[in-house]
Amino acid sequence: MSDNLEKYLSLVGESVEEGSLVKMTLSKPAQKHDELRNVYVKPVLIKEKRLFAFTYHYERRDEVKNYDAAQMLEMLREILPQRFLNAVLFTVNEDVTLLVSSKGKATLQTKKVQECREQNLEHDKQKVRLINPANPWWYQLGLTTREGKITADMQHKFKQIYKYAEIVESLVKPMKFEGTVHIADMGAGKGYLTFALHELLTQRLNLDVDIKGVEIRPDLVLKINEIIKTSGLKGLEFVESSIEAYHPEKLDVLIALHACNTATDDAIASGIRAGAELIVCAPCCHKQIRQEMERSGKVDAITRYGIFLERQAVMITDTIRALVLEYFGYKTQVMEFIEMEHTPKNVLLVGRKTKSRIDKEAILKQIETLKKQYGIQQHYLESILPFVD
Ligand SMILES: C[S@@+](CC[C@H](N)C(=O)[O-])C[C@H]1O[C@@H](n2cnc3c(N)ncnc32)[C@H](O)[C@@H]1O
Repeated sequence: MSDNLEKYLSLVGESVEEGSLVKMTLSKPAQKHDELRNVYVKPVLIKEKRLFAFTYHYERRDEVKNYDAAQMLEMLREILPQRFLNAVLFTVNEDVTLLVSSKGKATLQTKKVQECREQNLEHDKQKVRLINPANPWWYQLGLTTREGKITADMQHKFKQIYKYAEIVESLVKPMKFEGTVHIADMGAGKGYLTFALHELLTQRLNLDVDIKGVEIRPDLVLKINEIIKTSGLKGLEFVESSIEAYHPEKLDVLIALHACNTATDDAIASGIRAGAELIVCAPCCHKQIRQEMERSGKVDAITRYGIFLERQAVMITDTIRALVLEYFGYKTQVMEFIEMEHTPKNVLLVGRKTKSRIDKEAILKQIETLKKQYGIQQHYLESILPFVD
């Protein structure tokens, strides 16, 4: 048996050297109840490096891992024939099949192909979904049923994190990172967005990440870290801390989804202080500015109506946040990230660090004018960031 196995592995090695490996499949699990059902291997070019993408098809999820040639051969030695009894190597001109019987007898068959095939080195992105609800952590987090179906009461939350992740993907894709990407999710709560980003960035964008979910509630942090551990996820950790007290040494991307009231300001300030390249926040409630407006007693034709006072407070709070981001060198966009029916808190502030010259004086003037108009003494962000002309 080992002769044929060795021969198969050496043919794989040769096809790698010649650049003729088109794909490989490993199937027929040696153990009937093995959760890993089959493995699909294909060559890919990632950052101009030729690697081999292994898609592990488990019963309820897929996992993709990229290996270089040596690691790939090592991996094959680990799983053939211990995990799989059937392996087929497809090269540009032949198919080589390794078959191991239940008694351990291995045979090798080679078949020439009629038409010469071509290698496709494109990374097969459509195979990896943005968020795959069948991944087991979604059930543990309470988003899905055991079978990987989004539960009825989590439909809106799923839509929110899906849309948020979609936007983050479009923002992160063109960015250049050196080594590990450092990310903080401020006020991470039950971790839906944090896990979604981990899945998106590691499995779809193939980035090496260090994601911290910053959350003040110790019970949640404990529970989520347990789920991370049992799921075997690397580069993801929950930290028990207030946003204010969390000072990361290195931060590339800061995100926050519905961090309450001024916690969104603390998140923005933390991102600015750490020099994050990208800051993406969907604010929650806007009490601080509304209370200032009410206290001032100033009312105009709009704010005399309670509901419009509320809405105006939202707009002023977020406009000042956007201006503050601009002041500290971020090109800022304000957008809706999802339809109202999924959450009324659907505004997204996106700040991308730029090297463009900033007219700080003009920005400060705009902030002052707004504050004066609505009787606001101070926006909370002004009290926690160093404004210098
Ligand atoms: C509305 S939940 C949002 C959770 C999560 N981002 C999501 O959208 O699913 C806000 C979370 O922020 C946490 N939080 C609020 N203020 C905080 C602070 N100052 N520091 C750390 N966490 C905070 C709360 O405990 C809560 O879990």
